[in-house]
Amino acid sequence: MEKFKGKSVFLTGGSTGIGRQTALDFAREGAMVTIFDINESGGTQTAEDCKAVGAEKSLFIKGDISNFESVDGAIQKAFDEMGAVDILVNSAGVLRDAMIHKLEEKNWDFVIAINLKGTFLAIQACAKRWIEKCKEMGNLNTMEYPDRRIINISSMAANGNIGQMNYSASKAGVIGMTLTAAKELVRYNVRTHAVQPTMVATPLTEELLTKQEGKFKEMYEGRIPFGIGKPSYISEVILFLAGPESIFMNGNIIPINGGKLGDL
Ligand SMILES: NC(=O)c1ccc[n+]([C@@H]2O[C@H](COP(=O)([O-])OP(=O)(O)OC[C@H]3O[C@@H](n4cnc5c(N)ncnc54)[C@H](O)[C@@H]3O)[C@@H](O)[C@H]2O)c1
Repeated sequence: MEKFKGKSVFLTGGSTGIGRQTALDFAREGAMVTIFDINESGGTQTAEDCKAVGAEKSLFIKGDISNFESVDGAIQKAFDEMGAVDILVNSAGVLRDAMIHKLEEKNWDFVIAINLKGTFLAIQACAKRWIEKCKEMGNLNTMEYPDRRIINISSMAANGNIGQMNYSASKAGVIGMTLTAAKELVRYNVRTHAVQPTMVATPLTEELLTKQEGKFKEMYEGRIPFGIGKPSYISEVILFLAGPESIFMNGNIIPINGGKLGDL
């Protein structure tokens, strides 16, 4: 199957976890895949693995998602090397959990800079190039412009979660940005969505899931009817939102909730 053959996918945070799984799934479907991440060894490995499983082309670019020049330069490089970016997946993200009264300002700033500003920078870098292309093509009907997609990774923590004031604010902000981009960019045939995963076992959550002799792991297993998730449970929804089956959808915020309604 080569559902994404000819499509160029740019994934932030593609070195590990959900981003890596999503990159590999796109690669298996024949896409051209660009991984952007601060983790060089993981990113190089993912790009190599993408090629091995069927990517038409793959590329790793090291950079910091919270830095304008780094993100804009990487998106330009992907346009130059892949011909364009058709699908942007914003998966780069960090946690610095603490109860409100102990949350340090530097950890507020760090999480907001990566999860919130970083997502904006990647959207902006793509959007300006996409709009320029549409302007070159002249005044056409929306669906005559190239089909572009943005999929952001929010979280069930956007509904509020104890110990995650900074993280939940960033992920609620991602929902606001998703809806704004969905309204603003639809004119240019860009569909923007967000997924809200519940707890998934990845390097991001490893510390939480192993601390206090597995107390937190047990707590989440008890709360989530289908248990703690795997990255593929998220990547499969992302591929749906990037693919032809969702052509008539825009601005959807999709909880991937492990069967639980409401909080994480
Ligand atoms: N794992 C979960 O339970 C869960 C639940 C809901 C949402 N999410 C979200 O899913 C996304 C992926 O998380 P994951 O669980 O796969 O974690 P992960 O740690 O495996 O992946 C995050 C990636 O982001 C990269 N990254 C961190 N800082 C960066 C920076 N400054 N610039 C560029 N890249 C940077 C990391 O190197 C890593 O490869 C995140 O946005 C996360 O908030 C995860």
